[in-house]
Parts: sequence; structure tokens; C-alpha cells
Amino acid sequence: MRTTSNHILVIFGASGDLTKRKLIPALFDLYKQKLLPTKFAVLGASRTSLTDEEFRDRVVEFLPENEDVAEFRKQLFYQPVSNNQADDFLPLKLRLEALTQQLGIPGNYIFYLSTPPSLYGVIPEFLHENGLSRSEKYFRRLIVEKPFGTNLASAKELNVKLLNYFNEDQIYRIDHYLGKETVQNMLVTRFSNGIFEPLWNHNYIERVEITSAESLGVEGRGGYYDHSGAMRDMVQNHLMQLVGFVAMEPPVVVEANAIRNEITKVFQSLRPFKENMISRHVIRGQYTSSVIKNENVVGYREEPGVDPFSRTETFVALRFYIDNWRWAGVPFYIRTGKKLPTRVTEVVIHFKSVPHHLFGNSSNSINNQLIIRIQPDEGILLKFGMKTPGSGFDVQTVNMDFHYSDLANVTVPSAYERLLLDCMQGDATLYARGDAVEQAWEFVQPIINAWETNPEIPIYGYPAGTWGPENADELMKGANWRYPCKNLTNDGLYCEL
Ligand SMILES: NC(=O)c1ccc[n+]([C@@H]2O[C@H](COP(=O)([O-])OP(=O)(O)OC[C@H]3O[C@@H](n4cnc5c(N)ncnc54)[C@H](OP(=O)(O)O)[C@@H]3O)[C@@H](O)[C@H]2O)c1
Repeated sequence: MRTTSNHILVIFGASGDLTKRKLIPALFDLYKQKLLPTKFAVLGASRTSLTDEEFRDRVVEFLPENEDVAEFRKQLFYQPVSNNQADDFLPLKLRLEALTQQLGIPGNYIFYLSTPPSLYGVIPEFLHENGLSRSEKYFRRLIVEKPFGTNLASAKELNVKLLNYFNEDQIYRIDHYLGKETVQNMLVTRFSNGIFEPLWNHNYIERVEITSAESLGVEGRGGYYDHSGAMRDMVQNHLMQLVGFVAMEPPVVVEANAIRNEITKVFQSLRPFKENMISRHVIRGQYTSSVIKNENVVGYREEPGVDPFSRTETFVALRFYIDNWRWAGVPFYIRTGKKLPTRVTEVVIHFKSVPHHLFGNSSNSINNQLIIRIQPDEGILLKFGMKTPGSGFDVQTVNMDFHYSDLANVTVPSAYERLLLDCMQGDATLYARGDAVEQAWEFVQPIINAWETNPEIPIYGYPAGTWGPENADELMKGANWRYPCKNLTNDGLYCEL
């Protein structure tokens, strides 16, 4: 049984959106389940001047109004802090000391960086200067939000900076995809089922497809997104981490470094992109204006804050290979984009077909698929062939599906809930390690460089509400992407599971 020691969680950027939309609700859920330690406090910190009460009023916006909240909010405190020089953190240090005394909490601190990324190097330095980053007696941990760098060089630089002030085992680089139940379940599916484990390799798997589609566009964050794009925002972090979980070898034990060692081995085996491969292996796109559900939708370049000549990709699809014993010759495909027909993230394992088509031609044989749905409606779907009732031997595809929501009395924790609790318990398994983050950057960097320097590489338009540029189909070499839903449905969230 893992224990959660008494501590104070300091959230930098506490007046911001992430704190009230995700972090406080996740902490409240932990509180309701009695998973927070008996002595615990949150100390919010940002530049805005707020009293404890004003901070509480502000961050409980997404919580229900009930007695639990009234109790929970008593554990929330706030300290205004500027971040120009190390001395600015003195009031924070004094407040922490006062709270530890007043509430009888030992000096265990978790520092959560939910500020603009430009402060991810600065805050750890100031914590260090004030003697808060390391302690012989107490634990000190640092959670770093995404994005971790904007390219390989800045990610390396940030790692170097952080390691000046914190040790690697104190640093928790968040990737909220790893907090999702189905991602963790991938390890269980693979390594606890005798029916899947022997098939999980190039002998039986034809290709692996990962889709992460969003129906939303940039939603007023065009200014931020225009400097990022789908490759940085989704592929380098979340989707590469998924690749790590799908493709890794069994870890020796279920323990943070054992699992993360296997993920880094996958990343080491990725076949690097050479510049002349990029336009054949990677397709980028940008949504254009269209009509969705009888409403006019603006194109990406017309969005507020976006450069009208922008070449930032809102869609990317790529084909790549993992050059190791298990995956030799198996193509991996990633596809992600904004303003696609639905919101879904799934991993599809396409199995090879049988060697001989006993029941007629190849169109009458089935390519089994195992679909691991990460969001929404987390679950697993297996597609296999069954005889169509009646005369003859016609084969049809049927589904065997499992939805997490069907598990009675089990609520799936939110990703932030799971990750916060893990950090409180000192378990970094579901956080990205520094070397893995750099390796993932190393993999995508040649693509980003080529896009930035070679104007010949096209960026294709796709009407908002469609599945991206048609050119992405060519990557598949005769096969097809899986379309979880072909058409928009009323709620825009139709998924097959
Ligand atoms: N929102 C999300 O859903 C989400 C999801 C994933 C990752 N993230 C990451 O999490 C971080 C926080 O996101 P957010 O959406 O909460 O951002 P936000 O709403 O803009 O909040 C940023 C916070 O940082 C504080 N801050 C401190 N020093 C600052 C400075 N020099 N300039 C500007 N702000 C400063 C701001 O408060 P004061 O002005 O009071 O100091 C504010 O509390 C970002 O790095 C973002 O990439 C966010």
C-alpha cells in the first residue's frame, strides 16, 4: 500500500486557468475520496494580489456548492509572489514556514509550475536560492507542466537548468495523457494477457495507427497556438509517449525507472527522418473555412491572433518505423488535428490477415483490429470475423467491446487526479523522464527544421470538419485510416465504442 505523506502543495500560476479548471477539481476529488494526507495544504502563488479568501472564492468556481467544498477550501491558502529576482521568493518562504508551524505539517513541499513556460527555469532557480529545492529531512518535488521546451535545444537547456537545482528523481514532467486509465491499461492488456502478448510483434501485427482528433479549433488561443502547431503541441509529447507504451518491451518490474528505461529504448530505435524523406512520410495541413452544422466556420488563418500567412500546422500525419527486433518493418502511423469531425484519441493495432483465404477471396477475410480508446469513453474494442448466419460461409466483422464506464462502482479518475496523487506518493512512473523528452524532441526536430527552412514542402488545406488533407491517405500505401465516425453527428462526439 503506497502512503501519502503530509505536505504542502505550492502551485505557481495559481491565479490562472489550469489551476481552477483542472488542478483544484482534481484535488477536490482526491479530498472526497480521502486520498489526501491528513495534514495537507495548498499554497497558491502568483503575482496577482489576493487574500486567502479571495483565492478560495476564485478557484472553487468549478466545484459544486456543498459542505465538502466548504471544508476543502479551508486547506487552500494564497501568497502573492513576483518573480523578478530570487529575493522576491522570501515572502513565499516565510509563508511556507508559517503554514508548516500553524498547521503542524512537516517541511515536505511539492512545487507545481503552472505558469508561462518562460518561468520553468526561473522559479526552480529562485526556490534553490532560497534553500527550498533540496532538504536532507523532507521531500521536495517539482512538477513541470507542458510544454517542455519548444525545440530540442530549449528542452536540453531546460533539463540542464532544472538539474542544477533539483535531482532527476525530484522532477516530475507532466504529460497528462499518461494519467489516463487506458494508457496505463495498455501495460496490463499487453503484459497480463496470454492471448495478446505472443502476438504483439512484427510477425502478427501489420501496422499500428494512433489518432488524436479534436473537433475544436484554437478557441481564442490562436496567438499561442500559432507559435506551436500540432507537431509540438501533440506529437512530440503525448503521442510519442503513447508510442512508447505500445511498443516497449516488458519492463523487469512495475517501477518508474524500469518502465521509463523501456520507453527510452523505443525512442532510441526510432528510424530518424532524413530531409529528403519528410514530404513523403509527413503530411501537414491547416483547416480552411467551411460550413459545419449549417454554421459558417472560419479557417485557421482567419482566427484571432493567427498570422494571415501562417504556415503553422493544425493537422499532421506521419509514417515512421521502429528499427528493433520486435517491430522490424511494421509501419507506425500518427494522425492528429484540430477541427476534425469528432473528438477521439485511440490506438489501433491492425493484425495481419490469415495466410490462406479459405472462405473465398481476400475481401472475405478479416484483418483483426484491437482498438484502445483513450478518450472519450475509455475502453477496448476487438474486431474479429464471424460467420454470417445462413447458407454458405460469408464472414462479417463483429465487435467485442469493453467500456470503463460499464465497471460498476468504479469512477475513472481524471488524469490530473491520478498524476497528482502519484507525485504525492513519490511515484514518477507516469511522468516523462528528461532523457525521454529529449529523445522525442530529437525525433521530431528534423521535421520541424525542414518545414521551417524549406518552403517547397507543402502545407495542405482541409475544410474544417473533415478528416484532414486527402494527401494523408497516401501515407497509408493502399491501406486506409480507421475512421471512428465518417460524418459529423449531432453532438459531434459520436464514437463507435
Ligand atoms: N490551461 C490548460 O488547460 C493547460 C493544459 C496543459 C498545459 N498547460 C500549461 O500550464 C501552464 C499554465 O496554463 P494556464 O492556462 O493556467 O495559463 P494562464 O491562465 O495564462 O495562467 C498563467 C499563470 O501564471 C502566472 N504568472 C506568473 N508570472 C507570470 C508572468 N511573468 N507572466 C504571465 N503570467 C505569470 C499568472 O498569474 P499572475 O499574472 O497573477 O502572476 C497566472 O496565474 C502553461 O504553461 C500551459 O502551457 C495549460
